[in-house]
Amino acid sequence: MIKLDKAIIQQGIKNNAGVIVLDEIDSTNVELMRMAREGVKPGSFLLAESQTNGKGRMGREFFSPYGTGLYMSFLVKAPEDTMDILSITTATSVAVSRAIDECLGISTQIKWVNDIYYKSRKVCGILAEAVVVENDIDSIVVGIGINTSTEYFPSELEGYAGALGVSEIDRNQLAVSVYNNFFDILDKFPARDYMDEYREKSLVIGKNVRFLEDDKWKDGFVVDVDDIGGLVLQVDDGGVRRRRVIRTGEVSVRIKE
Ligand code: BTN
Repeated sequence: MIKLDKAIIQQGIKNNAGVIVLDEIDSTNVELMRMAREGVKPGSFLLAESQTNGKGRMGREFFSPYGTGLYMSFLVKAPEDTMDILSITTATSVAVSRAIDECLGISTQIKWVNDIYYKSRKVCGILAEAVVVENDIDSIVVGIGINTSTEYFPSELEGYAGALGVSEIDRNQLAVSVYNNFFDILDKFPARDYMDEYREKSLVIGKNVRFLEDDKWKDGFVVDVDDIGGLVLQVDDGGVRRRRVIRTGEVSVRIKE
């Protein structure tokens, strides 16, 4: 296993920002959030070989064993426009998927809103969290967990989580590529042309899905993902076909086979 290397990452990334590589931390998101409150600069990039309490969406834990994944977070200055803030998670999904595909010569897909899939398994999760200062969103911590070579997952993740597992993966190169792809997209905001790539890589467009809303599973057909990441569905509303857009990231979507 090639270890994470601060100097290689620092040299490769496009912003002249600080890179911190740790052996172990509770969560790179939580730690970067602490550092942001202490005034660390936007662009700062924190990576760890393992996390003891990796945070997932919806209060779940992100399994983060030593050296078999990329557990990393970077700090982004909050864009002025709310639409741009909302677009950060879709931009991150495209940046990650593009980076993996470029570095490993494979084809990953995006499951709404920001899970990356390879060979029908979730190989990456993304968690963006706002740093709020005096009631304003000051910056965003963008957290990314990629399973590069994890072989064994806890039983509750079996059959669902997977790893890229393509020979020896250069995690330093992959981390740099994710970072640079993300800031390339962000620098072009408010342009949304990267969303065409998102739609091409989408696992859900054109599929029947079930989504969990107000504790109830509902059925829908995914027509599109709009430019700010809304899931555009056709739903059956008492015999009438209706168009609905789901925006919240706290909705679970399952593909109906
Ligand atoms: C999810 O799919 O539920 C989101 C998982 C996000 C995991 C990453 S790993 C690096 C960063 N630090 C954390 O504590 N979480 C994110």
